[in-house]
Amino acid sequence: MIENLITPLFNPSLNVWYTTIFVMTEALKNLDTGTRDRLIEEIAGRVGVRAERGRRFAELTSLRVGGSIDWVVAPETEAEAAAVAGALEAAGVAWRVLGAGSNVLADDEQHAYVVLTMREVKGEAQFDGDRISVSAGYSLPRLCVAAARRGLSGIEGLNGIPGTVGGALWMNAGAFGQEIGTVVESVRVARGGSVVEVPAAAIKWDYRHTSFQDGELLLGATLRLQPGDGKEIARRMEESKRKRLETQPHGSRSAGCFFKNPPGSGLSTGRMIDEMGMKGERRGGAVVSDVHANFIVTEGEGARASDALALAEEIRERIRRERGIELEYEVELWRGSSREAASKPAEANASEQSDAPKGGEVEPPSEATGEGGNVTTGED
Ligand code: EPU
Repeated sequence: MIENLITPLFNPSLNVWYTTIFVMTEALKNLDTGTRDRLIEEIAGRVGVRAERGRRFAELTSLRVGGSIDWVVAPETEAEAAAVAGALEAAGVAWRVLGAGSNVLADDEQHAYVVLTMREVKGEAQFDGDRISVSAGYSLPRLCVAAARRGLSGIEGLNGIPGTVGGALWMNAGAFGQEIGTVVESVRVARGGSVVEVPAAAIKWDYRHTSFQDGELLLGATLRLQPGDGKEIARRMEESKRKRLETQPHGSRSAGCFFKNPPGSGLSTGRMIDEMGMKGERRGGAVVSDVHANFIVTEGEGARASDALALAEEIRERIRRERGIELEYEVELWRGSSREAASKPAEANASEQSDAPKGGEVEPPSEATGEGGNVTTGED
């Protein structure tokens, strides 16, 4: 159904075109570390993107915790991103996408997969009347400011969400009554090494969740905003910024709201955690924020992902016991693993790309199928 609506836009013709059958054949390979490393270097060289070793999630996520990453690959254009994802997929190398890292809690283990960072895929936002075409790595706050300057309304409420456009699209980021999904005209997605354009109507946009699937790497989007009064737009921008500064922690290491609000209940998870008296509650270097109780912040050099996770699980346990509510994670939990586990071929990736809620536990991607999803942020 979605496939029928997809318009193939362009094939980067960087010698990375592979058939599905080839991908599936490669998926059965159990690559040894040396072969895999050589493949990654070869692919990065061929597509012309930077590939680095020795990075840690502690440097790449806003919570500033998380273990080491095998490889970080950094495309700079949408075409390169599509090409590199297609080539990794075809070669049977597991990958996962990261935007600004502001909605991810990666555990302290070794993460034996390629992190495809979209931060450099930012280009310039292209304005055409009330339409804006923007790449996935573009900063969401920058986009809000640029739109406001041109008198375009529809994303003022998202001002100050410190993520990338790709992350916002991936999980339908929202705040102060606005969600990005409502202003999207189409999303550019990488499939089989090429860029395809998916109309917004073919995507399901729910509360902090979309229907994007495994293996879909979001490259950019065209948004359609409403022409409005510049002064009024500027006033609403200021107002959402002020509210955010008043009600949410800023300048601290967080991943925004840690849990979703229970859907359809009208309840605020932050208020419930606050009412249980858990503000200031600490596990190692992780603390429930004094400003907003649905924010877990990390402090000090010694903070670990396991501290944040222990605190989050304590909160869930108490809400379960005292309120009978099962909280869903809003942040994505990325599990690392040993090389051995990560290199096992699997039937499917249970991942942030799957149809499961975007937040929550994400298994390491399996070699061969890879996985996309510009995991970045839903909010701060
Ligand atoms: N409240 C408390 N104590 C707290 C936090 C909140 O009593 O520690 C009360 C507030 O005073 C208010 C009510 O709870 O009466 C709701 O609070 P708020 O307006 O902050 O809204 P929220 O439901 O907690 C949601 C989003 C935020 C978004 C704000 C503003 C979720 C999980 N959270 O928070 O998004 O910025 O509304 O639109 O949907 C995020 O997605 O990461 C995020 C922070």
